[in-house]
Amino acid sequence: MILPANDVGSVKWRSPSNIALVKYWGKRKIQIPQNTSISFTLSTAVTETEVQYRYDHHQKEGPTLDFRFEGNDNPAFGNRILKHLHSLVDRYTWLTHCHFIIDSSNSFPHSSGIASSASAMSALALCLQSIDQEITGNEKDADFFKKVSDVARLGSGSASRSVFPKVAIWGHHKDIEQSSNDYAIPYYEPLDEAFLSFHDDILIVSPNEKSVSSSLGHSLMDGNPYASVRYAQANENVLAICESMRTGDLERFGQIVEEEAMTLHALMMASRPGYILMEPNTINIIRSIRQFRKESGLPVYFTLDAGPNIHMLYPSNVSEQIRSFRDQELLSFCYNNTLIEDRVGNGPEKIT
Ligand code: DP6
Repeated sequence: MILPANDVGSVKWRSPSNIALVKYWGKRKIQIPQNTSISFTLSTAVTETEVQYRYDHHQKEGPTLDFRFEGNDNPAFGNRILKHLHSLVDRYTWLTHCHFIIDSSNSFPHSSGIASSASAMSALALCLQSIDQEITGNEKDADFFKKVSDVARLGSGSASRSVFPKVAIWGHHKDIEQSSNDYAIPYYEPLDEAFLSFHDDILIVSPNEKSVSSSLGHSLMDGNPYASVRYAQANENVLAICESMRTGDLERFGQIVEEEAMTLHALMMASRPGYILMEPNTINIIRSIRQFRKESGLPVYFTLDAGPNIHMLYPSNVSEQIRSFRDQELLSFCYNNTLIEDRVGNGPEKIT
């Protein structure tokens, strides 16, 4: 590989967030998940990141960085990114010779409480791998997205899954071919049509920053007495949910998704020390969804991230009925009536 003496350039990617159906919760060094997880790739909640780079062979103190989030300096996020860039110098040797200007922005509102490290870290990984192609001249790389997923994982575990369309699986599973702890893979079996356009309405219960970060939450799994049972359960749930999506078994799908959400928060409560990230309105919404499902017989389910907000999941053929239920009965539980209407999406896009 012959690197140029000087080079400047700029790349830009838009990358989506994702919502885990079977959760990644618990990890080993370095960013190795304790169990397999599976997610829907979203389409509305995205990060756009532009990376301008100046490669100068004489500069050896790099990487250096000017980072802007939505047009403003953001030292907290900038420092996290700089640390991540430094951790990648063995993989991208050219990083040492680079100065970067990174501009990043999210499609979702500031006040939504959705701080999507998945979309942000996957967008950054896409930019880095594109720059690698430009600098090394390796333009046709069949493993492009695999490498991106690996770099995204090192930034944030869940980001590894944002790189692929529709449904992605991360974490080695003995019964899932090609699955890996290092990168996610696209779900390769045919999906029942219902799942190709699934809705995910993100109901914002609270926009506040979480009192316990995901990183701390993962580390508390180490002393959690239920940890090993949990990891086994997740690995079973991944297989079961794949089967439900292949066969179009919405009821089974919903059972697993809700079990996963409740288990995630039960694990938080059972950590040492235990903590609660749900809010009273999280419970109010869960109860309303379950009641409405019982009365109407419609397939509408919920899941949760590591926070109080609800992701309401349903197929597109019932969207009208669900929308009127949502607007009449759920919006009043949301912070300032805030919600993000999202759907299963097609993965990242390069912006030229
Ligand atoms: C509850 O990917 O945010 O959303 O690897 O420490 O960055 P780090 O954690 P992160 O954890 C996500 C946890 C989750 C479940 C999931 O997305 O699978």
